[in-house]
Amino acid sequence: MPRRGPFPPWTLVLLLQLVLVASQLAGCLLSPCLEVTPNKTFSCTGLNVSGVPAEVPNTTQNLDLSFSNLKSLGQNYFSSVPELQLLDLTRCQLHTIEDNSFEDLHKLTTLVLTANSLQYLGAAAFYGLTSLKKLVLVETSIAYLSDLPIGHLHTLQELNLGHNSIASLKLPKYFANLTSLRHLSFHSNKITCISKGDLDPLREVNRLNLTLVLSLNDIKYIEPGSFAGIRLGELVLRSSFENFIVMQASLQGLTGLQVNRLIVGEFSNNQRLEDFQSGLLSGLCQVQMQEFVLICFRDFERDTDTLFNCIGNVSSIRLVNLELEEVSEVPMFSQVKQLECKTCKFKEVPAIKLSLFKELRVLRITKSKHLNSFRQKFESLSNLEVVDLSGNRLSFSGCCSPQFHKCPNLKHLNLSFNADISVSGDFANVKNLLYLDFQHTKLHGPGSYPVFLSLQKLIYLDISYTRTHVKSQCTFCGLNSLKVLKMAGNSFENNILANSFKNLSNLHTLDISGCKLVQVDQSTFDALSGLKELNISNNKLLSFDPVVYKPLQALTALDFSNNQLSVLLDSALEILPESLVLLDISQNLFECSCTYLNFLKWIKEKQELLQNKELMICHTPAYMKKVSLSSFDLSSCQVNPSTVSSSVIMLLAVVVFLFLIYKYYFQLYYSLVLLSGCKHSAERGSTYDAFVIHSSKDHEWVMKELVEPLEGGTPPFQLCLYSRDFLPGVPIVTNIIQEGFLSSRNVIAVISSDFLESKWCSFEFDIAQSWQLVEGKAGIIMIVLEEVNKALLRQRLGLSRYLRRNTYLEWKNKEISKHIFWRQLTGVLLEGKKWNHEEVKLM
Ligand SMILES: *[C@@H]1O[C@H](CO)[C@@H](O)[C@H](O)[C@H]1NC(C)=O
Ligand SMILES: *[C@@H]1O[C@H](CO)[C@@H](O)[C@H](O)[C@H]1NC(C)=O
Ligand SMILES: *[C@@H]1O[C@H](CO)[C@@H](O)[C@H](O)[C@H]1NC(C)=O
Ligand SMILES: *[C@@H]1O[C@H](CO)[C@@H](O)[C@H](O)[C@H]1NC(C)=O
Ligand SMILES: *[C@@H]1O[C@H](CO)[C@@H](O)[C@H](O)[C@H]1NC(C)=O
Ligand SMILES: *[C@@H]1O[C@H](CO)[C@@H](O)[C@H](O)[C@H]1NC(C)=O
Ligand SMILES: *[C@@H]1O[C@H](CO)[C@@H](O)[C@H](O)[C@H]1NC(C)=O
Ligand SMILES: *[C@@H]1O[C@H](CO)[C@@H](O)[C@H](O)[C@H]1NC(C)=O
Ligand SMILES: *[C@@H]1O[C@H](CO)[C@@H](O)[C@H](O)[C@H]1NC(C)=O
Repeated sequence: MPRRGPFPPWTLVLLLQLVLVASQLAGCLLSPCLEVTPNKTFSCTGLNVSGVPAEVPNTTQNLDLSFSNLKSLGQNYFSSVPELQLLDLTRCQLHTIEDNSFEDLHKLTTLVLTANSLQYLGAAAFYGLTSLKKLVLVETSIAYLSDLPIGHLHTLQELNLGHNSIASLKLPKYFANLTSLRHLSFHSNKITCISKGDLDPLREVNRLNLTLVLSLNDIKYIEPGSFAGIRLGELVLRSSFENFIVMQASLQGLTGLQVNRLIVGEFSNNQRLEDFQSGLLSGLCQVQMQEFVLICFRDFERDTDTLFNCIGNVSSIRLVNLELEEVSEVPMFSQVKQLECKTCKFKEVPAIKLSLFKELRVLRITKSKHLNSFRQKFESLSNLEVVDLSGNRLSFSGCCSPQFHKCPNLKHLNLSFNADISVSGDFANVKNLLYLDFQHTKLHGPGSYPVFLSLQKLIYLDISYTRTHVKSQCTFCGLNSLKVLKMAGNSFENNILANSFKNLSNLHTLDISGCKLVQVDQSTFDALSGLKELNISNNKLLSFDPVVYKPLQALTALDFSNNQLSVLLDSALEILPESLVLLDISQNLFECSCTYLNFLKWIKEKQELLQNKELMICHTPAYMKKVSLSSFDLSSCQVNPSTVSSSVIMLLAVVVFLFLIYKYYFQLYYSLVLLSGCKHSAERGSTYDAFVIHSSKDHEWVMKELVEPLEGGTPPFQLCLYSRDFLPGVPIVTNIIQEGFLSSRNVIAVISSDFLESKWCSFEFDIAQSWQLVEGKAGIIMIVLEEVNKALLRQRLGLSRYLRRNTYLEWKNKEISKHIFWRQLTGVLLEGKKWNHEEVKLM
């Protein structure tokens, strides 16, 4: 029976093992390889692994194992990653590569073995690498080329053997097999001597594409004939010689070489030769080359007379980073077609001497910080087409005709990135110019005067950042062929772009970005119907006026970014041409409100057209600030259609209601009072015998012929007159009804022409009629004054005239008629009259 202790010893061991495994796992997880692109590129650099990490999948194409601890590679070491195309084994402490180490890597194109001190390389070490194009064996302690087992790598294009200990350039026979080789570098080795026959394997094949780098060796001697019959693409000899004498002698050894480009010189940080001395390049007379590059020489104080002696028939010369101050001698009948001096030490454009290069077609003098003067003329260079004087410190006036005498073919003039130039408008000698670049050079002239008038053929003009201030409307006059106009970073009068581009109908690119523009006048772009690209970004424009931009119907790219637009209205969206493929309206001050729903919708639809979408951000309202335009929630603006229709119906109803109230105000009010009156009339005693309704024009008649006799007679009658008895401060309609009808037994209507015309009287009469119909109470006594239109009267009085309770009286201004009238009237008024005591006493 086993002991039942709490921890048997074997459990403890198991636990310990588990802890160990767990910590190893954790270690793995803590330092995994970096997956640079999923399943394809893994970087395990600096992880000090000792093999291909298991986590690297078999789909991996690029694997960086640099700074690992591999020590030695054995057979089929990389079988787990057969898809590899690039393998970096830099500084992996490798000393041994056994046969077939890369066996399965048929797809590998690049193998980097930099900084491994290789002691043993199997003869079949690189077998299987049937696609290898680039082999980097820099700093791998290789001393003998014959030891390298690479003869079968037919596909190899680049072999870098820099920083090794190779002392002999005697190329083994297998180099004849490397027919694809383009770049062979022995940079920084220990080659001291090149002898006849060393390069023979290169002789057998046409090596016009091969670059051979022998820089940073310590070559003491090149045996003449070593390069005879060799054809190379490029030969580089920088900092390869110890001193002037060795170099001069060695260059003689290049006799018979045919090379496309020969690069000779120093490295700026590794200059072994102090001075350039005359005759240095004398050996090059026997070398056939297209291009010669002389690089990084100090001290040309004297001795430049022979500089061009042996290179005078090279078609292209580049002098780079030389402290060359002048060109002293140019050989007669030189064939140089291209000459470039970059970072030289000229103070003055050496136009007179350079004019001796009669075949010169392209001249570039650039990036020379001492070059500030341009007083000499180029003279009679009939082939000269390109002059690039950019990046110097040139400061001169009278540009650009006087500087080029008899250079009729000059087409391309680059004076950009200089100090300041004043442009006179005289281009007589160079009127065939096609390209003119002044960018980033302070200009005097353009903007104020029409200086470009004679450049009728110019197709490209760059005056960006030249501090040009456009005042003249004719600034660009004459540029009738111009296709590209770049003038970013300048300014316009009043910051308004006015009609400056009148005749530029061939223009297809216009850059007016960063010009502080606040406004673009109408018809500015009218002539630019062929314009394809417009950059008007980085200005202060508030709007995109469709009228202004409508003529631009050929536009393919429009940059309107970084302005102060709040929206593109529907009218603007409509005129955007079909041809547009790039539109940048980022960095404007957009308003993200439902008012501009159409615009915001359009933004969502045109995602392909719009550039820099991440910079299209709301500016207002405040709560939307910094929200991306394309993430604006359109649904927040949508209204439910049924709500819309019901609110429309409601609104209509309210309108109709209000209209009805307005139209039938009196009737409504009257009905109200009528209803309340029904209740009260019973309680209320009649205080008047009659309520008199009449036109104010008949007031005199009423007072004299009606009120006086009736109220002053016997028996006396009480009449109600609105002018006298109505209560002040009570609405007139209320008065009519309460004081008039409700308090009177009869209604006397004094009907005259004025009565019939008066709206008020008609209204009162209507009320009286309906009152009578409803309550069956007051009788209406109609007194018709003589001169009344009978037809109108009949229509107005209508049925009332024939009702039994009503009395119809005609007033005639005759004594006899008056008598009858009075008898009839008092008779009617007396009917139903209740007498109070005082009245009875009086009688
Ligand atoms: C990477 O490989 C895994 C497993 O083979 C697979 O599931 C995944 O889809 C792959 N990812 C990509 C981006 O190919
Ligand atoms: C790399 O790993 C080895 C053991 O595999 C160790 O001796 C060495 O110190 C490690 N190097 C670094 C830099 O961590
Ligand atoms: C990669 O490994 C998977 C199994 O893990 C296998 O199915 C696949 O065939 C392998 N791919 C290659 C190219 O070897
Ligand atoms: C050159 O290539 C052929 C064919 O692959 C091969 O037989 C021969 O051994 C190679 N020569 C050398 C010197 O490696
Ligand atoms: C040189 O290389 C180019 C491609 O870079 C190729 O088209 C041309 O055929 C090559 N010329 C020779 C002579 O190998
Ligand atoms: C250059 O060529 C011309 C004629 O083409 C010839 O007269 C002259 O000697 C040549 N100069 C050099 C240095 O080869
Ligand atoms: C002029 O020179 C500048 C600086 O070297 C360059 O960027 C520009 O492209 C050149 N202009 C033209 C029209 O070639
Ligand atoms: C405008 O261009 C036409 C031809 O393209 C030319 O005849 C006319 O003189 C030019 N007008 C101005 C003001 O430059
Ligand atoms: C427009 O000009 C600005 C600078 O002024 C530049 O950054 C931008 O790239 C240009 N836009 C296009 C489409 O070239």
